[in-house]
Amino acid sequence: MKISISSLHLILLITIIIAFSSIELASSLDQRFEDCKPRDCGNGLIISYPFWIEKDYCGFPGFKVTCKNNEPNIYAAGYDYIIRDISYANRSFLVVNPVAYAACPVPLRNSTFTDQSLITPGSGVQVLSFFYNCTNFSLTSYEKYIYPVNTSCVTLPDRKLSSFAGFVPAGKSIYDTLTCQSPVNIPVDVDSSLETVGQVNGYLPLLTKGFTLEWNKSPCDACEASGGYCGIEKSGLSMCFCNDQSQPHLKNCPPGIHNFLLLLCL
Ligand SMILES: *[C@@H]1O[C@H](CO)[C@@H](O)[C@H](O)[C@H]1NC(C)=O
Ligand SMILES: *[C@@H]1O[C@H](CO)[C@@H](O)[C@H](O)[C@H]1NC(C)=O
Ligand SMILES: *[C@@H]1O[C@H](CO)[C@@H](O)[C@H](O)[C@H]1NC(C)=O
Ligand SMILES: *[C@@H]1O[C@H](CO)[C@@H](O)[C@H](O)[C@H]1NC(C)=O
Ligand SMILES: *[C@@H]1O[C@H](CO)[C@@H](O)[C@H](O)[C@H]1NC(C)=O
Repeated sequence: MKISISSLHLILLITIIIAFSSIELASSLDQRFEDCKPRDCGNGLIISYPFWIEKDYCGFPGFKVTCKNNEPNIYAAGYDYIIRDISYANRSFLVVNPVAYAACPVPLRNSTFTDQSLITPGSGVQVLSFFYNCTNFSLTSYEKYIYPVNTSCVTLPDRKLSSFAGFVPAGKSIYDTLTCQSPVNIPVDVDSSLETVGQVNGYLPLLTKGFTLEWNKSPCDACEASGGYCGIEKSGLSMCFCNDQSQPHLKNCPPGIHNFLLLLCL
């Protein structure tokens, strides 16, 4: 049997050799550089430090993102919030409480991020309080402040019990005379055009609009500008992972690498 190596075979052979050697090269790089590349859940919203999807060293605890129906979700204290927007420049993000899309948009537990001291409400956030099964309720005292809650979502029809949502005005004590279940507090972004009087479920637009949260971790600008991706070390310190086969860097990648990458791109 005669074996002939045509030029086509030769090209194929060379290609395979190159492919294998570049895999070897890649595997000797800091794997974390690859792992912490920004990614998205399928809807185009970029997820990167301090958020992370798979590898916990690409961001901070409490910033774990789960992809659901192509949308990024972040979990906190019983709610899987949908992340609608992230501003890495402003270090803020907009989330929607999933209860907004439930058949009964009636929250039964407090919405809180306080167990994560890293995440704080934005400046436009106000607390909408839900009061359920209230006795001693008289509409005339409250009608300027409330959105009635769909009672069939809360209890069997009972004329003696009322449920509603409202912003408790600072220093107002009218709510003190109510006898209700523990209030449920939900943050919402409030703008000046807010209507404080509403129909049943009139608060729903506030829920679907979501609310802004801010994080107070160092930005990743210097690292990203130098061609790296941020993440954290075991110690919990933020680091810059670079494409240079070495240990992570504190702030940014050494200048050489970035210039080299830039050259490759050109
Ligand atoms: C960032 O903040 C500035 C100033 O507060 C604001 O004008 C801008 O719209 C914000 N950008 C995003 C993407 O939220
Ligand atoms: C109240 O909730 C019930 C049961 O979920 C629903 O059938 C009804 O349409 C709701 N009413 C309003 C005004 O949303
Ligand atoms: C309201 O009261 C009913 C019983 O009358 C109870 O089944 C329901 O769980 C209560 N709802 C809340 C939100 O506490
Ligand atoms: C019921 O409400 C009235 C005012 O509307 C108040 O004077 C009274 O103290 C309340 N009763 C209870 C038990 O809270
Ligand atoms: C929600 O938080 C408020 C204020 O911290 C508290 O008084 C209330 O009991 C909480 N409600 C529930 C249902 O845990």
